[in-house]
Amino acid sequence: MRTSPESFNISGMLKEKPEEKIEEIRAAAQAAFAKAPTAKELYDAKVQFLGKQGSFSSIMKEMGKLSAEEKPAFGKLVNEVKQALEAIYSEREEALKSGELAAQLAAETLDLSLPSNVGQTGARHPIALVIEEISGILARLGYSVRTGPLIEKDRYNFEGLNFPPDHPARDMQDTFYVDKEHVLRTHTSPIQVRTMELENPPLRVIGVGPVFRADSDISHSPNFHQIEGLCIDRKVSMADLKGTISFFVREYFGKDLKTRFRPSYFPFTEPSAEVDCSCPICIGKGYIGNEPCRMCKTSGWIEIGGSGLVHPNVLKFAGVSYPEWQGFAFGFGVERMAIIKYGIDDIRLFNENDVRFLRQFSV
Ligand code: PHE
Repeated sequence: MRTSPESFNISGMLKEKPEEKIEEIRAAAQAAFAKAPTAKELYDAKVQFLGKQGSFSSIMKEMGKLSAEEKPAFGKLVNEVKQALEAIYSEREEALKSGELAAQLAAETLDLSLPSNVGQTGARHPIALVIEEISGILARLGYSVRTGPLIEKDRYNFEGLNFPPDHPARDMQDTFYVDKEHVLRTHTSPIQVRTMELENPPLRVIGVGPVFRADSDISHSPNFHQIEGLCIDRKVSMADLKGTISFFVREYFGKDLKTRFRPSYFPFTEPSAEVDCSCPICIGKGYIGNEPCRMCKTSGWIEIGGSGLVHPNVLKFAGVSYPEWQGFAFGFGVERMAIIKYGIDDIRLFNENDVRFLRQFSV
């Protein structure tokens, strides 16, 4: 509620009782200051009484109507009252402001007992973790990692690996051709050829990375990962290969698991063998309780990759002198390693970026 200055009919009253009029303004101002609930409203009241357009200014304008004798006393009184009101205002302003600050501090107090918002943290992809784990196991046998291009020359993906031109074995790999001479690499074995061309034996290397094949279903993805080992040394036999893979299987899947080798064919190894290990899900039993094991379909064995002694043609192509130097190689599918170890039933989960799936592997 504002009291307008005009409501004090100054001109009519001045001649009669100027002091009374001023007292009236003082009382009204004091009451308004005391009542103002906030610093903002207090300031509004100050403007109303003491501001340029306020009650006192109106009174001062009327001074001209006073006689010369009356003027000094009236002026003095006005100044005293104004000063007194300024002082009351300042006091009240301070009180209101500190009250407001106290209220604000009380309202904004931090409750340290509230649970905090825990931000989501990122995590390594399960495929990256599996690659790291497998490389770590092989590193203990002296192997170190090599990589190569994803768009690979026919020379490294096929020719240097003893796939003759137009050989039906090229069809085994469901190749994506980029042009006549380039393919999306269908396996990590070209890394073997590139390494043997560049580095001198003895060698213990891991070739690892994405590979591509035109194949897609619940257990095949057109892009997946392989990891493979190549060992070149003076005297290398199938016994070295078996020892290395058996060590790897026990370290990666579990101490109780067995490894077996079945004769097979790859153009770049001779002899060649498919590698199986006891199924890590049912520990080779074929059943979990009375339930048939879905991973190995009751056989108790599961295929994990290919292997063999490096074919002399492959060594010769890469400039490695045979039989002075010989070698073995083995290759695994990385997704398959994770699928078998963790009992995952669909390879496509690795590429879907569903955090509910991925989060389970965060370490
Ligand atoms: N490169 C083969 C494949 O992709 C796997 C393999 C690697 C076999 C090394 C033997 C030796 O099928």
